[in-house]
Amino acid sequence: MNSLEKFLEDYYKSENHLLDDTLLTEVSSVFDEINLEKQIKKLSSRMSPSEVNKTIEQDRNRFILLVSLANHYNLKNVFEVGTADGCQAFSFVKYFQHINAGHIWTCDIENTINKSFYNREEVKQKCIFIKSDSSIATNSVSEKVDLFFIDGDHRRGAVVSDIKNLKKNTRVTIAFGFSMITIKDSGVMRKFTTLKTMKNSINLKELN
Ligand SMILES: C[S@@+](CC[C@H](N)C(=O)[O-])C[C@H]1O[C@@H](n2cnc3c(N)ncnc32)[C@H](O)[C@@H]1O
Repeated sequence: MNSLEKFLEDYYKSENHLLDDTLLTEVSSVFDEINLEKQIKKLSSRMSPSEVNKTIEQDRNRFILLVSLANHYNLKNVFEVGTADGCQAFSFVKYFQHINAGHIWTCDIENTINKSFYNREEVKQKCIFIKSDSSIATNSVSEKVDLFFIDGDHRRGAVVSDIKNLKKNTRVTIAFGFSMITIKDSGVMRKFTTLKTMKNSINLKELN
């Protein structure tokens, strides 16, 4: 078992998400502010209250997971493809504020980022939103990227393009994507190690 697999195994055994209480509360507050009300509304029409709570807990944990990973590996620069409302990006911002370092570039072909969050001065200092796909957005990045979170167009060709685009400009150490992505055999990268299909449908892959 390598260290990333060990991280995931320990993570799921852990009750406290490997974050200290202050950071955990801060990260959870992003999801609660942006998504909680609309998720409750959406789920309540087809689920019992206890199922709603369980599903919301799982949703919230997905955002916390990536922050825990960054925290564990001391990852500072993040590039995200697929911003949507910005819940994951702003969760990283809370982490960067906590460690007083780090930055996220996040891109989306749609302008759906939550403006009331994004327009806050302290958020803009840590988060750059670029309305485009990765072919253009990666040109804004001159520093080394530690974590590349692929969550835009999940089709295989699109994911491979995202990775090629980022590799043009930066050195990438870790990439994430969702389980529907199958890039292992693409032959584009020298080596992808598929580490684990995770409970909450995230795959973790390492670029060498
Ligand atoms: C699943 S959502 C992203 C959720 C977000 N990463 C989060 O965790 O908070 C997918 C987003 O990808 C965007 N998207 C689709 N194709 C894209 C592409 N080729 N490049 C960038 N974004 C894309 C969609 O507009 C949508 O907002």
